[in-house]
Amino acid sequence: MTKTIAVLIGSLRKDSINRKFAKVLEKLGADQFKFVELNISDLPHYNDDLWANPPKSVTEMKEQVAAADAVLIVTPEYNRSFPGLIKNALDWGTRPYGKNVWSEKPCAVTGTAGGAIGTAVGQAHLRLAAMNCNMIVMHQPEVYLTWSDEVFAADGEVTNESTKEFLQKFLKSFNSFITKVS
Ligand code: FNR
Repeated sequence: MTKTIAVLIGSLRKDSINRKFAKVLEKLGADQFKFVELNISDLPHYNDDLWANPPKSVTEMKEQVAAADAVLIVTPEYNRSFPGLIKNALDWGTRPYGKNVWSEKPCAVTGTAGGAIGTAVGQAHLRLAAMNCNMIVMHQPEVYLTWSDEVFAADGEVTNESTKEFLQKFLKSFNSFITKVS
């Protein structure tokens, strides 16, 4: 059965390599997953007062998460952590108190950067935040991807066979993990 995945991408840049990476994963996992990208660009900065008249962007995001089988976060590393864009979305999702939409959602975290450690530190911080949101976070396999335009073609095709297998293994593991913990 196809699983619906709410996808959080931690970059708003038009040419974001993390958005490209999410598209690569979407294409590779098309036989098992339906990806729904959460629109987090319109979320205001978190403010408790706004619950008096909740912004549409917040209620829509929460509905999409509630309807999904699991959450996938694809994130850049910013200053050895993860972007505030994602933190803001996580914070909105945990409130109002007692209405935490992330709670008990299976979650996988990944990301890419041009550098050699491929978002490892940012992902470590993000896993902690996701666990605090009470998501059930997949620990293994980890994917810290160093981006290369040669390996990932413009149409999302993976030209290197071992990279393709590695990413397919990640997706297959995520699928089994979701089934196991749901
Ligand atoms: C970065 N970048 C970065 N890279 C990294 O490997 N470790 C880091 O700590 C940081 N810190 C950082 C801070 C800020 C504010 C920016 C804008 C960038 C570089 C980052 O990996 C690179 O810009 C990626 O291309 C960002 O991902 P997207 O936007 O292409 O998905």
